[in-house]
Amino acid sequence: MNASTDNDLLDALFLPITGGELAWPRADRVLFLRAIDGTVLRRFDAETLVCEQSFKPDALQLVRSGLTQTARANESRALVLGRLPRSRNQARALFAQAIHRATNDGVVVAAAANNQGARALQDDLERLAGPATVLSKHKCRVFRVPAHSAHIDAALLNDWMQLDAPYPIGHGLLGRAGVFSADAIDPASQLLAEHLPWNLAGCAADLGAGGGYLAIELVTRNPGIHAIDLYEAEARALEVARLNLPTVQRPLTVGFHWHDVRTGLPSRYDVIISNPPFHHGRADAPELGHGFIIAAANALNPSGQLWLVANRHLPYEAVLGEHFAQVRVVVVRDGFKVIAAQLSW
Ligand SMILES: C[S@@+](CC[C@H](N)C(=O)[O-])C[C@H]1O[C@@H](n2cnc3c(N)ncnc32)[C@H](O)[C@@H]1O
Repeated sequence: MNASTDNDLLDALFLPITGGELAWPRADRVLFLRAIDGTVLRRFDAETLVCEQSFKPDALQLVRSGLTQTARANESRALVLGRLPRSRNQARALFAQAIHRATNDGVVVAAAANNQGARALQDDLERLAGPATVLSKHKCRVFRVPAHSAHIDAALLNDWMQLDAPYPIGHGLLGRAGVFSADAIDPASQLLAEHLPWNLAGCAADLGAGGGYLAIELVTRNPGIHAIDLYEAEARALEVARLNLPTVQRPLTVGFHWHDVRTGLPSRYDVIISNPPFHHGRADAPELGHGFIIAAANALNPSGQLWLVANRHLPYEAVLGEHFAQVRVVVVRDGFKVIAAQLSW
């Protein structure tokens, strides 16, 4: 049988309600953390749901479906739903947030796919809030606890609230649970940084900038670059980049954009760098990289250059060849390739 899909997980998350075990609050709105759109949401009045989503493409989809979407809502709710992330520490931080933001007589419901550690995550929630009521569907597990303060381990709640905070990962940089390369510099990005030239100049952009490592390397090596825009779909990563970029010790104009790069860029650039995203869940998704390459080609000035790094096996050459006049493989090492491309000869 196939692995669970996003829709399967949503069905599981809403099962206590659709199955009649848990009532949808009449007098309050429901808070949905890490919300995504899906068929099951059509069963509820959109007005009664507040969706929180930090990944721009998912946030845009929620808005298109008429759901109230916010990057962060602060009121307490009688029912808090959480779609759990893969990162255990990020999930623990989400549990703490959910408990913190549920009313004292409220309920927290969370779901994860079995092959993404659902059982261990249930154990975590039970450590924090006591025994959970559990249901299973579509190879997913959904568990719920009362958020009543009498059951909560207050010291653990306090500890887990801190797990969403950025922390040092060396080289003067901060990382964050659940953000790309959360604990160390990514080896592919490091390979690109090592091979960036020293004579790039003008206005630059980093596509899928994460915590800003590549952007910092580019501007540190290239004093001719006077401005850089960081484009990143994950707001939690962009918040880390905002903390990391000020370590650059020279005058520089920096822009931070919570943006889906595949929709194109609003400005033009002389230099674009990228370590594009390359998978959805566990599956390779080269079309993501293709979208980044096309966005770069459309946003570069005629003499502009794109420098990117990718896993060696990813098929980017055809799309690069279609959109750029010159494409050069600069180095292939440790399973990665660095490619430089120019629009003109
Ligand atoms: C391979 S990581 C590189 C991160 C960072 N540049 C580094 O070197 O550590 C790709 C980044 O692209 C972001 N991303 C994924 N889809 C995106 C999209 N559609 N638009 C913009 N950024 C996206 C991810 O959140 C991730 O931070």
